Amino acid sequence: MVLGKWLGSFLLLLVRFSMNALGAYVGINIGTNISNMPPASDVVAILKANQITHVRLYDADAHLLKALGNSGIEVMVGVTNEEVLGVGESASTAAAWVNKNVAAYLPATNITAIAVGSEVLTSIPNAASVLVPALTYLQKALVAANINFQVKVSTPQSMDIVPRPFPPSTATFNSSWNSTIYQLLQFLKNTKSFYMLNAYPYYGYTNGDGIFPLEYALFQPLSAVKQIVDPNNLFHYSSMFDAMVDAVYYSIEAYNISGIPIVVTETGWPWLGGTNERDATVDNAETFNDNLVRRVLNDSGPPSQSDIPINTYIYELFNEDKRPGPVSEKNWGIFFTNGSAVYPLSMSTSDQITGNSSVTFCVARQNADSDKLRDGLNWACGQGHANCSPIQQRQPCYFPDSLQNHASYAYNDYYQRMHSVGGTCDFSGTAMTTTVDPSYRSCKFTGSSNSSNGVGFLPTEAFGPISPQGGSPSLQVSRFQCLVSAICLALVLLC
Ligand SMILES: *[C@@H]1O[C@H](CO)[C@@H](O)[C@H](O)[C@H]1NC(C)=O
Ligand SMILES: *[C@@H]1O[C@H](CO)[C@@H](O)[C@H](O)[C@H]1NC(C)=O
Ligand SMILES: *[C@@H]1O[C@H](CO)[C@@H](O)[C@H](O)[C@H]1NC(C)=O
Ligand SMILES: *[C@@H]1O[C@H](CO)[C@@H](O)[C@H](O)[C@H]1NC(C)=O
Ligand SMILES: *[C@@H]1O[C@H](CO)[C@@H](O)[C@H](O)[C@H]1NC(C)=O
Ligand SMILES: *[C@@H]1O[C@H](CO)[C@@H](O)[C@H](O)[C@H]1NC(C)=O
Ligand SMILES: *[C@@H]1O[C@H](CO)[C@@H](O)[C@H](O)[C@H]1NC(C)=O
Ligand SMILES: *[C@@H]1O[C@H](CO)[C@@H](O)[C@H](O)[C@H]1NC(C)=O
Ligand SMILES: *[C@@H]1O[C@H](CO)[C@@H](O)[C@H](O)[C@H]1NC(C)=O
Repeated sequence: MVLGKWLGSFLLLLVRFSMNALGAYVGINIGTNISNMPPASDVVAILKANQITHVRLYDADAHLLKALGNSGIEVMVGVTNEEVLGVGESASTAAAWVNKNVAAYLPATNITAIAVGSEVLTSIPNAASVLVPALTYLQKALVAANINFQVKVSTPQSMDIVPRPFPPSTATFNSSWNSTIYQLLQFLKNTKSFYMLNAYPYYGYTNGDGIFPLEYALFQPLSAVKQIVDPNNLFHYSSMFDAMVDAVYYSIEAYNISGIPIVVTETGWPWLGGTNERDATVDNAETFNDNLVRRVLNDSGPPSQSDIPINTYIYELFNEDKRPGPVSEKNWGIFFTNGSAVYPLSMSTSDQITGNSSVTFCVARQNADSDKLRDGLNWACGQGHANCSPIQQRQPCYFPDSLQNHASYAYNDYYQRMHSVGGTCDFSGTAMTTTVDPSYRSCKFTGSSNSSNGVGFLPTEAFGPISPQGGSPSLQVSRFQCLVSAICLALVLLC
């Protein structure tokens, strides 16, 4: 009896922590309003080299969806705002959409969600009346194709439908949308889907005209006099991001509906702006996104829902130079189209733990031409004077025994030695830079700091299939350590 109870709590703890092992994730949006959009295979190579596990597309581009096949990357596809009316007015249009853009790519491409439109209520309010019908028709088509457990349907909404988000505890949706939102929430609840939220502290801060400190928008510590506290429940809000997410949780609660998790489908910070956009700087963008990743990967929710992680998609992969509007509008990207980072950002935990992601590594591109790779490898180990002994047989970096792995090691060794004196990461276009440490097991890439890796786990995604759960290897390690200490804690508590 006593033992049974003991075992019971023990198992409960185990289950709790192993469920946690799925963990929160940070994904990225891929906008394509770009004059020199790289080929789909390059886009996927950039994603993999940076260990990105979740992407959202704004449409259902056939090339990208095909290239994402068997990549291990989870994909959210989009019904464009132009398509929403058609889908919402006709069940057969919705079914055709699902068959053409979702069913056709499964299971190779891991499509897990359909995002219907982009901020429909605020950007095309005329379509509000067909929004929930569109979701319903798409859901019916998924059920008919028997893929409704694999694919969830929802619709990203702007923060603008919550007119007064602070204090979060009193926030409500704009009542003009009452019936649409009520139907939407019921749909999400009934289909076990989630609320898609676009939340931009950048706009909250810049439109706030100095009401909020910049530190609050950037997840930085607030001094004692600047604490942001909800007067109704005394919750302390350490970031505007948390407050925005909580404002929506409270708005949902005002409908007496619960159990709908929020996924942040867009957030980010522009790194360049016009003369009147002085907060759009590289420093602020790097600080925001770096702290955002750290915040999301700590797995906690906002104060009112602290055990629901805030899965989040950063806006966005590339700068979209063809987007209309102010300078900042074109400069939200983390990467240039050649794959080099605008500023270093690690979307997994390895560099976060040491708090320094300033090392840039040079690795072979996925899908690079193998003749060119071989030439590059030979050049690096020969004329380039790279130290190629770790990739010889019986040495720590020999496995995986692939041209790609060996070239990555050699390219990087050359690059670390030579880039301060003008050496480049190019190798006839077969190389690319990344801020993600490519080291694995006992194979230490030159420039790697010893503390951020070195525990025995499988080689990183750059060299092989991504783990099925999509979690980065380093994440799994920290969760494992967490599990071990949880067991110890349980023993201490129970004995
Ligand atoms: C780019 O943006 C412009 C203006 O919003 C739009 O007209 C155009 O269709 C967009 N192109 C793509 C490829 O999204
Ligand atoms: C697709 O993603 C889901 C959700 O993370 C995961 O459970 C599933 O294993 C993935 N499927 C494949 C084929 O990778
Ligand atoms: C609510 O939405 C309506 C319609 O878009 C708008 O006219 C009104 O100003 C909004 N209310 C608030 C308080 O923002
Ligand atoms: C919103 O609509 C629902 C259903 O039509 C209704 O029950 C509820 O009272 C309305 N809420 C508000 C705040 O108007
Ligand atoms: C939610 O429940 C409370 C308490 O039962 C009730 O006062 C309120 O009218 C309900 N709100 C809605 C929108 O149904
Ligand atoms: C996770 O982040 C939240 C919000 O910033 C913070 O309150 C909490 O202490 C953090 N938890 C851990 C374990 O760092
Ligand atoms: C990639 O493109 C950016 C912007 O055009 C440029 O500044 C950078 O030097 C390029 N990087 C490489 C490795 O070619
Ligand atoms: C990383 O460390 C170096 C050297 O200590 C420092 O100059 C740099 O600013 C740090 N970068 C970040 C992102 O913390
Ligand atoms: C990192 O590892 C190398 C080789 O194992 C060692 O020589 C070096 O001192 C280590 N550096 C630090 C900072 O621990």
